[in-house]
Amino acid sequence: MPSNLPRFGVWALVHGSRAALQDPAEPYDASWARNKALVLEAERLGFDSVLVAQHTINPHDPALDQLEAWTASAALAALTSRIEIIAAIKPYLYHPVVLAKMAQQIEHISGGRFAINLVNAWNRPELERAGIGFAEHDERYAYGREWITVVDRLLRGETVHHRGDNFRIDDYRLRPADPFRARPRIYVGGESEPARALVAAHGDVWFINGQPPEDVERLIADLAARARPAGYDALRFGLSAFVIARATQAQADAHLEHLFALAELDKPLRETQKANTDPSAVMHQTFARSARVGSNGGTAAGLVGDYDTVARRIAAFHRAGIELFMLQFQPFEADMRIFAEEVAPRVRRLLSA
Ligand SMILES: Cc1cc2nc3c(=O)[nH]c(=O)nc-3n(C[C@H](O)[C@H](O)[C@H](O)COP(=O)(O)O)c2cc1C
Repeated sequence: MPSNLPRFGVWALVHGSRAALQDPAEPYDASWARNKALVLEAERLGFDSVLVAQHTINPHDPALDQLEAWTASAALAALTSRIEIIAAIKPYLYHPVVLAKMAQQIEHISGGRFAINLVNAWNRPELERAGIGFAEHDERYAYGREWITVVDRLLRGETVHHRGDNFRIDDYRLRPADPFRARPRIYVGGESEPARALVAAHGDVWFINGQPPEDVERLIADLAARARPAGYDALRFGLSAFVIARATQAQADAHLEHLFALAELDKPLRETQKANTDPSAVMHQTFARSARVGSNGGTAAGLVGDYDTVARRIAAFHRAGIELFMLQFQPFEADMRIFAEEVAPRVRRLLSA
């Protein structure tokens, strides 16, 4: 996978638009039909990856529609032929043997294009209302670490005997094993110290939230310096970012202003979301540092500008170590096309020169 060119991915719209939910240019739509069409078009346009976030209930407002990540990912695996499919997973929701079996099945359906994104939860009601309970931040990570230890070995086709604080597993082996590679790829999202320790020990790729280049470089330096288990490749890095690319900087800035104004309409939803969020989630402290639109850092990564500027900034992030750019747009399909036609070729030219 490592190459001198970056990979580009898109966030599926599992809970509607990413910047503002009440946009006349993009009516609320988290349906399977819309996401299927979006991902098929992304693949045709040359995008390399899709991230399907996992939320059982809509984290903005439980009354709103929410796409189910794992069943949708299995269907996408059957319908696509080239794009990587990454499904997020919160360990408390699935026993590790069940999840590993599902992941291995989607790996087979996709012909070796499947990956999981391990995330350790911030939205309290999703787990509390299910009666699962919402453990404290570091306890969630300890649980997630034991969970991924089991999943990793099962995905590799090993016979697992495990005794831990949370799981007791005897003589468990999944068949068929992965015929395409050692196992599906493991991404990890999360910025706290336990998240970093977890990705160094078990991850293939660390997903960084959108933020300015100097912060991203500091995070990469921290993780790149950490020890890796024997037999693991060097850790790779992905960046989440919201892109507004236009012919001129002024047009891009005007669209950003427009999205900020629309996002104001969602203020009551954001207050509810804030109240539901675990305050110790480090990721949300990062978001509080700058005004932005889009989830997971969004425009804080600075990919707002004319085509050349956005391409130059992406090339600079890539030189700093970002291998995969996981992108958001609004309106999504129209701006995704602009990116594919105007920005991606410029990035390739800059980095091939
Ligand atoms: C790229 C990326 C994708 C994420 N996707 C999800 C997701 O699908 N569902 C979810 O509940 N949290 C998701 N998260 C948030 C993680 O759960 C979050 O990082 C965690 O709750 C906070 O952990 P921290 O304190 O280590 O930052 C994602 C984070 C990143 C960086």
